[in-house]
Amino acid sequence: MKIIKTIEEMKSISRDIYFDKKTMGLVPTMGYLHEGHKSLIAKAKEDNDLVVVSIFVNPTQFAPEEDLENYPRDLQRDAKICEELKVDYIFHPKEGDMYRENFSTFVVPGENMTDIMCGVTRPAHFKGVCTVLTKIFNIVSPQKAYFGEKDIQQLAIVKRMVEDMNFDIDIVGCPIVREDDGLAKSSRNTYLDSSQRKAATILRKSILRAKEMIDSGEKDAIRVQASIIEMIEEEPLAKIDYIEILDFETFERLKIIQKRTLISMAVYIGKTRLIDNMVIDLND
Ligand code: PAF
Repeated sequence: MKIIKTIEEMKSISRDIYFDKKTMGLVPTMGYLHEGHKSLIAKAKEDNDLVVVSIFVNPTQFAPEEDLENYPRDLQRDAKICEELKVDYIFHPKEGDMYRENFSTFVVPGENMTDIMCGVTRPAHFKGVCTVLTKIFNIVSPQKAYFGEKDIQQLAIVKRMVEDMNFDIDIVGCPIVREDDGLAKSSRNTYLDSSQRKAATILRKSILRAKEMIDSGEKDAIRVQASIIEMIEEEPLAKIDYIEILDFETFERLKIIQKRTLISMAVYIGKTRLIDNMVIDLND
């Protein structure tokens, strides 16, 4: 495995891979790799001749008051994980190379996809995500790129961007990986102390309770949402950012539970903002 630190070298490797007629899968990350990332890498390994993992803590997707400085970084640890998983290349560019002086062009997703869920409290977040991914896609030129379904809004926005901007890249969504007690794996879980870690299970528990209600015939989305809110509010360390019940295809808010309903939430546990979701298929 090789760690590539310059954009030029990465581009040249990508060109060689292309001319060798090999397929390449990209797993874009901000590092501090966990089981969720590992599952994306495993899927990319299955599907492609070569796998590139990009590791770049992207400053443009953090708001000034967010945790950019404290975002966990450990390249050595990440490299060891990638090596074990037989990743071919890590692309780890410098911030100053990705955003040179006078950088001024951004890729802005449509408001219909960003004025709900995480976009409400993080208005510039997805602009930063789409901008950095456009850059990474152009530098790495993968045939496929792998994203977790935990960040369901990000996945939907990236799929739309790729279609709207005619990127020749297949965006592959991969299932959420969870701890034994149901908490979705995330780099942010490292911020939780032990009582917060216990409290964090409320996200999954409340979604499972909502699923039970729907499975036993509840069709009123507002009632389902109210039950989630009630359950989370009983947890003293939790503070709701949003609980949304949406049509999975259009992201429109629902009054009546539909065939494919997305339950999506962001909840603060202490100062740590955690997200989780579930797509409920009435045909299941
Ligand atoms: O999901 C992430 O880790 C980031 O948003 C991504 C896709 C790597 C872009 O910086």
